[in-house]
Amino acid sequence: MTAAEHRIDEHLVVRRDGAVVTVTVDREDALGALSRSMLEALDGYLPELAADDGVRAVVLTGTGRGFVAGADIGEYHGVDQRRFDDYQRLGRRVLDAVEALPQYTVAAVNGYALGGGFELALCCDAILATERARFGLPEVKLGLLPGGGGSQRLARALGVRFTLRLIATGAMVPAAELYRRGLLEEVYTDAAALRAGASELAGTVAAGAPLAVRAAKRLVREGPALPLPDALGFEQSVLSSLFATEDGREGVAAFVDKRDPVFRGR
Ligand code: COA
Repeated sequence: MTAAEHRIDEHLVVRRDGAVVTVTVDREDALGALSRSMLEALDGYLPELAADDGVRAVVLTGTGRGFVAGADIGEYHGVDQRRFDDYQRLGRRVLDAVEALPQYTVAAVNGYALGGGFELALCCDAILATERARFGLPEVKLGLLPGGGGSQRLARALGVRFTLRLIATGAMVPAAELYRRGLLEEVYTDAAALRAGASELAGTVAAGAPLAVRAAKRLVREGPALPLPDALGFEQSVLSSLFATEDGREGVAAFVDKRDPVFRGR
């Protein structure tokens, strides 16, 4: 397995292991808080990642006690309205771009996931966490509210009452509670186990038929917004188009021949 690592910002490390890319927020002293410079780097990098057909799964994670403890609050201080709104637009563009990635995405939440950190995790296809991870939308404590989709994506995922309680109280909830509510896929004892779990999940997805996995993501994410008969039609048309691909033929042929399939993403 080949691995290559580079920084797209002082605090953002991108590592590639075969078909899996891991983006690590490396800013332990600020618990992973997202500065404008980090958002700008992601804004530039995400379209490149989205266009890379060789990447089949993406892991987002942090270091130390923080996954991402939200926007860098220090950068809010003393700025005018125009600059604040500009920052929010940039943050939204980045989070929307994470959600729109065609690859399967895994948030490996190692510590605090607050504000934009929780919102970032909500844009991923799977959320895994350590026992000590804490999630919250605490902006009310600053006299503010979430601006990266927290009030809307969390309400859609876990309902309006839980979301409003979280926002109105600014409370932090442990990973175990969100696991119980069905938002998290798995909770691990420590960061090493989390890393191994995230890498196993991403690796398993990356080893699957790439066109089928990408189509599954579109289908499952976009289908629920449609009326059921339309969504069922969408499912059948996606399946039909996969049957016409080389990978679709190969998977069926390999099963009949009792051999492992070789998927080429065609
Ligand atoms: N922006 C900028 N710096 C942040 C930050 C943020 N969102 N969150 C934490 N930090 C910094 C702290 O200022 C501190 O820096 P310092 O050592 O230079 O003083 C460092 O990270 C460690 O945080 P600290 O508060 O000392 O740790 P703690 O364990 O006592 O508390 C938190 C942890 C997460 C509860 C607390 O840091 C916090 O409430 N952070 C803000 C979270 C937030 O409101 N996010 C939404 C932003 S819109």
